[in-house]
Amino acid sequence: MLTDARGCPTSAPSSVCLQQYEQALELSVSYQLDPLATIQTALDADPTFAMGHCLRAALGVMATDRGAVPMLKESVEAVEALGRRATDRERAHAAAARAWLQGDFAGSIQGYGDILLDYPHDLLALQVAHVGDFFLGASSMLRDRIAQVLPTWDTGTPGYSYVLGMYAFGLEETALYSRAEDIGRRALDINRRDAWAVHAVTHVMEMQGRLRDGIDWLTSREADWSVNNGFAFHNWWHLALFNLEAGNFPRVLELYDQRIRAPFSQAPLEMIDATALLWRLELRSASVGDRWQKLAASWEPLAEHSYYAFNDAHAVMAFAAAGRTDLVQRTIAAMERTAAGADTNAMMTREVGLPLARAVAAFAAGRYGDTIALLQPIRTIANRFGGSHAQRDLIHLTLVEASLRARQNRLARALIAERTQLKPSSPFNWQLTARAMDLNGDSAGAARALESAEARTKAQFGVQRAYA
Ligand SMILES: [Fe+2]
Repeated sequence: MLTDARGCPTSAPSSVCLQQYEQALELSVSYQLDPLATIQTALDADPTFAMGHCLRAALGVMATDRGAVPMLKESVEAVEALGRRATDRERAHAAAARAWLQGDFAGSIQGYGDILLDYPHDLLALQVAHVGDFFLGASSMLRDRIAQVLPTWDTGTPGYSYVLGMYAFGLEETALYSRAEDIGRRALDINRRDAWAVHAVTHVMEMQGRLRDGIDWLTSREADWSVNNGFAFHNWWHLALFNLEAGNFPRVLELYDQRIRAPFSQAPLEMIDATALLWRLELRSASVGDRWQKLAASWEPLAEHSYYAFNDAHAVMAFAAAGRTDLVQRTIAAMERTAAGADTNAMMTREVGLPLARAVAAFAAGRYGDTIALLQPIRTIANRFGGSHAQRDLIHLTLVEASLRARQNRLARALIAERTQLKPSSPFNWQLTARAMDLNGDSAGAARALESAEARTKAQFGVQRAYA
């Protein structure tokens, strides 16, 4: 029996197949393009290559896209048809992917996680479980699932840097910022092109309000993470967030047009980031031209297909902002049907996705009181529908803006105090503080808050107003 580069058993018929699997796996964990094309070459040569199908199925799971379902189904069935000619590990992969196919996202990710108990060097299972924990919003498992296998890995194990990169992200999502940054940087010392490790350190800077550091970090390493990389859109999004916080709206729109939405994509993961960025601009009352209309048109084919609540809520955001009330209603109706079910997405939709979708639709219609009423109950459980703290901050930002526009003075002041106490280095949080002070009739307090905003900008950028 042939084993992979980390000693995991496979039923690979030849070392050539296995070599192509290793190449595809390396591309998958580094997010470089194109793991699917690479594994497809191996499967075209031998359609019974079980581990090849396991990797193809894993890519289908990680896409969180209904469009990937036929591919996922085909590969699961191919491994199942092999029966005992596939190894126990390969069959466990197929069973975990089958659970995903059946809508049991949580059971699927547990299945991938269980593989690691027997095969802690199964880098593919580790990546799917890690990405799955992200989709499930399981912050502590983003960290601890990696910790479970970490003692069995060292610099001599191929792919070690990727494990460190994943661990760094888990540490960051559990607010262990200093360790996260150290381990992320260690991962990059081994492999500077690890886009996930770049991303983990970027998140640390985002959460700590280190705008200048974040811009310098991503810009100085651009050649490592942005070239031929399927995750580049998301790191560009993070660069746009730093610029947004700094008030550099022209740069944000430039990044949106030239990097985040070009080349044009209808992959939900990419449209989510585009939508969230435009929504944040909307909350800042910035003009985005006809970008909402174009983005809504990209989401339109998904309007009646509720597959993953996180995607659906963002689709509704785009439809609502574009004034496409027909699509808002159709998507919310699809989400209501989904919410009546019993699978993982039904729970996500019922508990978070649907209230959020209704809240953003209300916001776009100027019904800010409704937005507040819908968001207040879900803000503390929003992790249940996945995403990172940085992504879910959109909910808090929307709640803040709704409370300001609804002139709910005390609520606005309290919510903004939350943000400013947590991230006092953010000039934007101090600008919000000034608005809350104004609303509460404290003009002297508002002036002091604006001075704080300018001081925080100067501390990071060397000038009081980085951008007019
Ligand atoms: Fe991120």
